[in-house]
Amino acid sequence: TADAAQYVPEGADWAALRSAAVRCHGCELHKDASQTVFGEGPVPARLMMVGECPGDHEDTEGHVFVGPAGRLLDKAFKAARIDRSKTYLTNAVKHFRFTERGRRRIHQQPLRGQVVACFPWLREEIRVVKPRLVVVLGAVAAKAVLGPSFKLTEHRGEVLEHDGLQVGVTVHPSAVVRAENFSEAFDAFVADLVALKKPQK
Ligand code: URA
Ligand code: SF4
Repeated sequence: TADAAQYVPEGADWAALRSAAVRCHGCELHKDASQTVFGEGPVPARLMMVGECPGDHEDTEGHVFVGPAGRLLDKAFKAARIDRSKTYLTNAVKHFRFTERGRRRIHQQPLRGQVVACFPWLREEIRVVKPRLVVVLGAVAAKAVLGPSFKLTEHRGEVLEHDGLQVGVTVHPSAVVRAENFSEAFDAFVADLVALKKPQK
């Protein structure tokens, strides 16, 4: 089955990876999306955060976390004293997955096969960014990095070691945006970020 591996230039630096990802046809998602949305931020960076996949705004603008989830993330970063400009932000899947309802494009969670197909890009981003901590935002990102049987609800707020990586686990900012009790969900998200960024023993 197809995946991104054949599009990944071996041993490339970040800029070369980003330009190669523009042409990725590793799964079918490139067909309907507007463009590849690659990760962004300083290289190297101590902190990397991994979301699910680009949304409508990200697909149009070509940048990560520039829509409602990104605004929530900015607000949470401010509360947790995390500097977005020092953080490398990316997604488990680099193309927008959606269905059309009239003129609206409704976000759909990427399928497991698409997450697996796209993983070579994330693997390479981790190689060049060399983060001290990778924070996975939500179940899709968590399973991309930690494996398909990983249960987010059992490990939320924890830092786990996986393949020599320190991986911090929390929810996706979109889940906070949609939460019934917003302020409680927001505070819990900020508390996770504060706990995760503390140096681990
Ligand atoms: N949601 C994500 O997971 N990533 C983005 O870049 C935007 C919304
Ligand atoms: Fe390639 Fe990932 Fe886009 Fe699929 S989602 S085409 S694997 S960059």
